[in-house]
Amino acid sequence: MAAGASGRYLGGRFTRRQVASAGLAALGGSALTGGSFGLVRDTRAQSQGEPQSPLVTNAGPNPWREPPILMSVDGLLDVQLEAKPLSEAGVGKMAYNGMIPGPTLRFRPGDTVRLKLTNNLEGHMTNMHVHGLHVSPEGNSDNIFQMVDTGESFQYEYQIPPNHQPGTYWYHPHHHGDAQAQVNDGLAGAIVIGGAFDQIEGIEGLPERLFVLQGPSSVNGELVYTVNGVVNPEVEMRPGQTQRWRLLNASANAYFNLALDGHTLHQIATDGNPLPGLQSLDQILLGPAERAEVLVQGGDSGTYTFKSLDWGGPSQHQPSFTVATVTVAGSPMAPMPLPEKLIQLPDLSQVEIAQQREIVFQENVVAPVFTINGAVFDPDVVNTTVKLGTTEEWILRNTSQDAHPFHIHVEDFQVMSIDGAPQPFSYQDTVNLPPRSSVVIRIPFLDFTGKFVYHCHILAHEDFGMMSVIEVVQ
Ligand code: C2O
Ligand code: CU
Ligand code: CU
Repeated sequence: MAAGASGRYLGGRFTRRQVASAGLAALGGSALTGGSFGLVRDTRAQSQGEPQSPLVTNAGPNPWREPPILMSVDGLLDVQLEAKPLSEAGVGKMAYNGMIPGPTLRFRPGDTVRLKLTNNLEGHMTNMHVHGLHVSPEGNSDNIFQMVDTGESFQYEYQIPPNHQPGTYWYHPHHHGDAQAQVNDGLAGAIVIGGAFDQIEGIEGLPERLFVLQGPSSVNGELVYTVNGVVNPEVEMRPGQTQRWRLLNASANAYFNLALDGHTLHQIATDGNPLPGLQSLDQILLGPAERAEVLVQGGDSGTYTFKSLDWGGPSQHQPSFTVATVTVAGSPMAPMPLPEKLIQLPDLSQVEIAQQREIVFQENVVAPVFTINGAVFDPDVVNTTVKLGTTEEWILRNTSQDAHPFHIHVEDFQVMSIDGAPQPFSYQDTVNLPPRSSVVIRIPFLDFTGKFVYHCHILAHEDFGMMSVIEVVQ
């Protein structure tokens, strides 16, 4: 996109200095990166030009944009993120490096990621969590018990295992009691891990788009949802063209019940994990923190609405809203064959189960108290102790009238069944628990000992107690 998109997108502004301050090539921004991990166009031009004014009420469609990409070089990504209030009103009030969402971190399995977080939030403690990454939860790795006080900095360092799943992840603050406010106010960014998955025939070389979905936020009294900080951006496609979309629900509390008029969403990955084969769907429900990667083939020339459909029971109801506008135009392309077979991860349905546990989600919305197995979060109590190298089966029982997206740090799990119905094979780090339901998952505890958490990813619920501590021991 051109530098002159000023005034059309919301949230923070990108300056050349901010991008360069990470000490890396200033990369990214432009939507269509050619799909190949190494082939990101240098769009430094984007960060020049006039400041982006925080336009608020334009219903769009508005020009597409993506956050700048900070990419690892020679196995190292070394970034600085400053959490700070935004000086101008826009969508959100707090930002990393002045932008909503924050810059996208891109690296590869086996890389080292150094992330220096500076807290200039004035009166708020904060910290950092790398959601979905299979890294150590201890020390200065993904340790959410570590807090960063106002005016202080903390140096995180993550060793990404060489066999880490490539895919779409994200980062956000994890300060209990203030998590909802900080994420809702704009503190969130995407993480993209490149790797072998990108080389599968039918995926390799596809133009790629990242959708960081956020909201609702109140703008001039109106509630808006945004994609990469933009209300209702325009997505351009050619008839027959296949694009790869990375969808990330970075909202604190909202669901995105996604559907594209006249088009099928061909899902290839859930959270950061490849599916064994393409799943062609009309609709994908993404609870808070969930990700989906989909292939979309442009239909006939025309304008189509990418929307979130009406969702939720009486206590959580969200009416339908527009997410983006897809314009299919230009000379038609012969549709490329979609990949049939993707990657089969280990199937846990036959493995030995070391322990079965029941984890019960309950709520008292009046109090309000949100509990797991009757307890609210206490950082000084270990609720669950598991043995490294074992696989456990957890029955996640939601006794309440609200849906709760269950999430566990560090490990991914296989979803076995929902209310007794066997589920298509998928690994996830977040799974939605429908009202009054039972969801069975199997979790292999691999590679890392230490304390971390599992919780409801509706951050309002998490802040009201719906989080537990787990410790993996030798
Ligand atoms: Cu997305 Cu406990 O985190
Ligand atoms: Cu997480
Ligand atoms: Cu919940």
